[in-house]
Order: sequence, then C-alpha cells, then structure tokens
Amino acid sequence: MGTRVQDKVVVVTGAAQGIGRAFAHRLAGEGARVVVADLNGEKAAAVAAEIGPSALAVVVDVSKDESVDALGSVVGDTYGRVDGIINNAAIFSTIQMKPFWELTTAEWDVVQTVNLRGPFLIVKALLPLLKASSAASIVNIGSDAVWEGRGGYLHYTASKAGVQGMTFGMSHELGEFDIRVNTISPAATQTEVPRATVSPAQLEAMIAARALHRVATPEDLTSLAVFLLSEESVFITGQTISVNGGKLHR
Ligand SMILES: NC(=O)c1ccc[n+]([C@@H]2O[C@H](COP(=O)([O-])OP(=O)(O)OC[C@H]3O[C@@H](n4cnc5c(N)ncnc54)[C@H](O)[C@@H]3O)[C@@H](O)[C@H]2O)c1
Repeated sequence: MGTRVQDKVVVVTGAAQGIGRAFAHRLAGEGARVVVADLNGEKAAAVAAEIGPSALAVVVDVSKDESVDALGSVVGDTYGRVDGIINNAAIFSTIQMKPFWELTTAEWDVVQTVNLRGPFLIVKALLPLLKASSAASIVNIGSDAVWEGRGGYLHYTASKAGVQGMTFGMSHELGEFDIRVNTISPAATQTEVPRATVSPAQLEAMIAARALHRVATPEDLTSLAVFLLSEESVFITGQTISVNGGKLHR
C-alpha cells in the first residue's frame, strides 16, 4: 500500500463492518488516522483494535444531532481537524424489503433519517474541523440501486438518490472553502455480512449484466475512496462515480 493519505484524519461512518470496515483498513494502510464511527460500539472497537493505534473508535448515531455533535467534539479534541469523511453508515443489510405500498411511514422515515439526514448532520457538525484542513474531501456512499428499479427497495433507493443530489448541492456550497464532495455509487458488493437484500438468482443476473462477470468486493471500492480523499483528485468534485463492473444503467 502507498502513502497517498499519509497523516490525514479521516472519519468513516458505519466502519464497524462490511464496506466501511474495508475503507477503515485501507485508509489506515495508506497512512491515515481513521475514526471508526459506528452505532455498534463493540464492533467499532474491534475494528479499531484490528487496525492499531492509528484508529479511534467512536460510538455515534448519525441520525441524531447530539450524537453527531459529540463525535465532532471527540474528533476535535483528539486531532483538531478533519481532512476526510466517508459517509458510509446506512440502513442497508438489515433493511426490510417490501412493496412500497406496504411500507409504513415509520419504516420510510427511519431509512431517510439514517441514510440521508445522517450524512447531512455529519458534514454540518464536522464543518469547522473540515475548514481547519488544508485539503478536505468528503465521500458520500450512494448506490447503483438508484438506477436498478429493483422491487421492495423504494425507501432505500429514494434515500440514496437523495445522497447523490446532496453531494452535488454540497459541492457547490463548500467549493468556496476548497472542500470537495463526491459520491461513490457501488453496485451489489459482497461483504462478510449476510443479507436478504439480494437473492442468489438476482445476484447471478446482476453479474451477468456486468461487463466484468464477477462479484464486487469492498476492495473494489477502497482504491477509489483513497483517490478521492487524496490530493490526486483536487479538481474532482460534485461527481457520482459508479463502481459496478461496467453495468449499463443510464
Ligand atoms: N453491500 C452492497 O451491496 C452495497 C451496494 C450499494 C451501496 N452500499 C452502501 O454501502 C454502505 C455500506 O454497506 P454495507 O454492505 O457495508 O452495509 P452494512 O449494513 O453491512 O453496514 C452498515 C454499517 O452502518 C452502521 N449503522 C447503521 N445505522 C447507523 C447509525 N444510525 N449510525 C451509525 N452507524 C450506523 C451499522 O452498524 C453497520 O456497521 C452503505 O451506505 C450501503 O447503503 C452497499
């Protein structure tokens, strides 16, 4: 691994498992100091322990102002600045899939509250620390589900479409501070976490529709994240970049 994010302070939300855990490991391997921020404190602590002294585990509920503000205080007291954020936390592997007309308002709201309000609150709370960085970059995690039209997923796809729109809007408002904002949009990516959101038959069909006929892994996403958080991408902002093995969807 290289040193493209050497000594950068990067907050990764939802880093206790899956793709977020892979981001945390890769960034630490590239020299960053990583804040492993997650609702699940036990698993976040385990990931920070796997990484070692360059990682700090913090329990946070990204959907709650006071919790996100507390994260900002801990990170500010520890590092005094934030150079990068990966807004990765989401209700994903635990999501209840059903036709949208069966979704309750509460089921709709909780997904929007975590997946969309979460990144908004995180960026808002960490903005003073981002401004203290010489080259801050934010990566929001969207989803190619936005273009797939797969049934049972409307609350999720709506939240991730919101993430894309928010990325573009934020990139314009934060440009004057030289803070960049981009979305990484993964297609179905296999992690260590079992989930009911993709049946084996659906996964097979997805792989067949890709130019590169294999399953996506979290490592397919981590190189792009390092690039977007590094100074190699200083003129790239407001973009949504799909990592989907060449699947056509637009
Ligand atoms: N895995 C895929 O196929 C895939 C595809 C496209 C997009 N994504 C997106 O990638 C990201 C990571 O996916 P994953 O597969 O690792 O998901 P996952 O469900 O395995 O992990 C999500 C993590 O977020 C944490 N989290 C949930 N609610 C939280 C809250 N309120 N506050 C703080 N942390 C919270 C969970 O504890 C968990 O550690 C998500 O944004 C997901 O929507 C995943």
